[in-house]
Amino acid sequence: MINTEQSPYHIVKECASTRHVFQRYGLSSKNNTPLAKIDKSSFSDYDFFIDLLETYENIDENFVNIFEHYPLPILTDYLKRSHDYYLTVRLPHIEKMIVEQIKQHEEPHPILVVLKEFFKMYRADLEEHFKEEEESVFPLANHLFKLQENPLEQNSLHWIAKNKKGALDFIENHKNETSDLKEINSAFLGYNVQDKSFTGHELILKEFNDFQKDLKIHASIEDFVFGKKVHELLHTYQSRLN
Ligand SMILES: [Fe+2]
Ligand SMILES: [Fe+2]
Repeated sequence: MINTEQSPYHIVKECASTRHVFQRYGLSSKNNTPLAKIDKSSFSDYDFFIDLLETYENIDENFVNIFEHYPLPILTDYLKRSHDYYLTVRLPHIEKMIVEQIKQHEEPHPILVVLKEFFKMYRADLEEHFKEEEESVFPLANHLFKLQENPLEQNSLHWIAKNKKGALDFIENHKNETSDLKEINSAFLGYNVQDKSFTGHELILKEFNDFQKDLKIHASIEDFVFGKKVHELLHTYQSRLN
């Protein structure tokens, strides 16, 4: 069990996949300070941060119901930090690995060239997905939270009444979008196994696979915790939104 007496260095040493959690919160995995002594502003909530580390340690999206009791702003903060981390660190890292692998061969395996193109499209799709989430769903969550804090908040009530449809449509379609990405990934992993001449690229596919697991936890928190909370709050204020 991870606890606040442990330092980022100790936690990452025990479980390497938690490094990605520290990175998105701007904490060095070489930091030797116990979590309890690190300024709370670094990660908004100690308990949430510990639960997040545990989830990445077990890398299992089925654990996401432990996040149910956290308020929407803490969840939004994690989701936004993850978007930024994926786009600025994780995806560029995988892209760089593909480009370097291509450079190493005079005649690169055709699948590498396809992988590079596929990755470009994959990244553009994700970028679009994150943008839409940040521009429609996160503001809806933010206004619902304001309304929860102050039921007389008229600005939020008007904003929600005017914009909720677009955000709700996006939440509704969310599950299908991530499963498309999973299918593309399976096709590539299948090709890797079948073609024996396709060697030396295991690290790229491992990185990609790890990233997909991370994204799956992210999407599960969106679907089963964040989206559920948004629906519940909308239901609470339903009569005032018509
Ligand atoms: Fe997201
Ligand atoms: Fe999403």
